[in-house]
Amino acid sequence: MTIRNIVILTGAGVSAESGLATFRGPDGLWEGHRVEDVCTPDAYARDPALVHAFYDARRAKVGSVRPNAAHEALARLDAEWPGELLLVTQNVDDLHERAGSKRLHHMHGELTRGWCLACDRRIDWSGPMGETATCPACSSVGQVRPDIVWFGEMPYDMDRIDDALRACDLFVSIGTSGAVYPAAGFVQTARYCGARTLEINLEPSLGSHLFDEGRIGPASVEVPKWVAEMLA
Ligand code: OAD
Repeated sequence: MTIRNIVILTGAGVSAESGLATFRGPDGLWEGHRVEDVCTPDAYARDPALVHAFYDARRAKVGSVRPNAAHEALARLDAEWPGELLLVTQNVDDLHERAGSKRLHHMHGELTRGWCLACDRRIDWSGPMGETATCPACSSVGQVRPDIVWFGEMPYDMDRIDDALRACDLFVSIGTSGAVYPAAGFVQTARYCGARTLEINLEPSLGSHLFDEGRIGPASVEVPKWVAEMLA
């Protein structure tokens, strides 16, 4: 089968070796926090200070780490792959773009963006946001929330992702547990539409049986190997 169109899905595992905690498992972010306390619109309405503290700490941490060999290999693939390519990430860090990826979509939002609920604009954000942030666009105070898709909210641009999944010849899932939908269902859409499917992960994910091929190992090793094969 000739491969021209590729869709790649990444999750927290791709950033783990840069020093960012994954969500599930020992030392995962969800071990120290309850999802319903920090990652829902209700949580934000109930206790905005707690939610801001959680994301301010994550934004600060991301600023102190660097892309790893997996991010760099995916950026190389983006630059050199002659066909269609879309990198869909569930990650809210900016390590893919700092490595150089261009054909990139953050389906769960970005830590380095704010969303002003007063003027509905998305704005670039660095440093703490907190409860008293001033919107640089409309000057409202205390109306800027992290531009993160919380549980119960719709991931960004699902139509674009769905179109890419239906048109791809190869779907590759990297460093994600397959615990959160709709991302966990992408492999089924791609398969149904005739794509070959590959999983690269430290351990088999919840949906590993849906992939034609599984490569088990750290992303910093397995992803550069796979990219080298693709570009050979
Ligand atoms: P998880 O923490 O659920 O899963 C991370 C996966 O990465 C696991 O399957 C690990 O085995 C694997 N992994 C860890 N280190 C790795 C490494 N060095 N190389 C390769 N794989 C490795 O994170 P996600 O699947 O990304 O959503 O979680 C999905 C969503 O759940 C997140 O986007 C977030 C969370 O709730 C929101 O916040 C909306």
